[in-house]
Amino acid sequence: MNLLYQRSLQFLMDNQAKTGAIIACPDFETYRYAWFRDGSFCAHALAQAGLIENAARFHQWASRVVLRYQKKIEMCIQAVRENTLPDAEMCFHSRFTTQGEEVPGHWGHHQLDGLGTWLWSMKEFQQISSEKTLPVEWQQAAVLVKDYLMAMWSFPCSDSWEENETLLHTYTLGAVYGGLMGYAAMLDDAETAQAAARIRDYIYQHCVYQGAFMKSIGLPEVDANLIGLYIPYRVVEWENPIFQETLQKIIADLATPIGLHRYRKDVYYGGGEWILLTAWLGWAYAQAGEYEKARTIAGWVEAQAEPDGALAEQVPHAIYDPVGYEYWCKRWGPIASPLLWTHAKYILLVKSLCNG
Ligand code: BGC
Repeated sequence: MNLLYQRSLQFLMDNQAKTGAIIACPDFETYRYAWFRDGSFCAHALAQAGLIENAARFHQWASRVVLRYQKKIEMCIQAVRENTLPDAEMCFHSRFTTQGEEVPGHWGHHQLDGLGTWLWSMKEFQQISSEKTLPVEWQQAAVLVKDYLMAMWSFPCSDSWEENETLLHTYTLGAVYGGLMGYAAMLDDAETAQAAARIRDYIYQHCVYQGAFMKSIGLPEVDANLIGLYIPYRVVEWENPIFQETLQKIIADLATPIGLHRYRKDVYYGGGEWILLTAWLGWAYAQAGEYEKARTIAGWVEAQAEPDGALAEQVPHAIYDPVGYEYWCKRWGPIASPLLWTHAKYILLVKSLCNG
């Protein structure tokens, strides 16, 4: 394996706390916390690379966090049953300290995609590690998360970029579908698989605009995160015409010409090219057997690495909003780097390329 792959694994291992938590980025104050979304992709990359023990420690940490906030989760489920929607602060949070505590302060706390991704990642772990029976704590946490997702999926939450908290997002629905299907496979539960299928139907009914999937219900544009509908959540097969149309729109609207932006109106750090999204597209191509395209992308990602091998969240190329770039640099410092889930996406791309 190449040097950047080895460095990427090293970054993941070096930034896993003793508790098993994996922080988003060590050198960016706002990201010195552990997210379910980022961590679940990192755990999957670690498992794929054969570092089963590290992946297991993350799942152990995540299970403990879920069980620690069990009361909160149960209260939300109960509230929905009584037709009252809990506000974001009352919901299960999206980022935690390495000790598994909620981080105080204003944030888009309520995000369901990370939890869906976690269930998917745990299912993958079970398959890769051939652990027939998962630890009891993991199973208890998985049941809670499954019930929570089933209760909450049809209500708005913040999207995977922690924005648009009043809308329903196609990517998030896809992640919930992928998570519930993962749960159903892990615990052999046909009822949950049926519930997941209803979410997929909902996506087809409400999240398609002019033949392509849209960012959110009410936002007909594309978001590069829609790649996730194919990999990893498998809402669609590669050949699915709606997905192919979505992919073409993503490339036409968001690639400049290889690096992918998140979405057209992005102003965060000016809306540069996100390395993790570009690697994600490469991962998708490799999974679909389009190895040449995947290799071109891998080369592009490698060219973005800093001298010590760090891969950032985004690179300020072809930015949409120079004023936004200046604003965020002043507010939070330089772009986050190394961003661990960028490294995770690169590892997954390289691993998939090994099959080609
Ligand atoms: C991104 C999230 C991510 C977080 C930590 C945010 O800016 O929008 O997707 O989980 O950073 O990496």
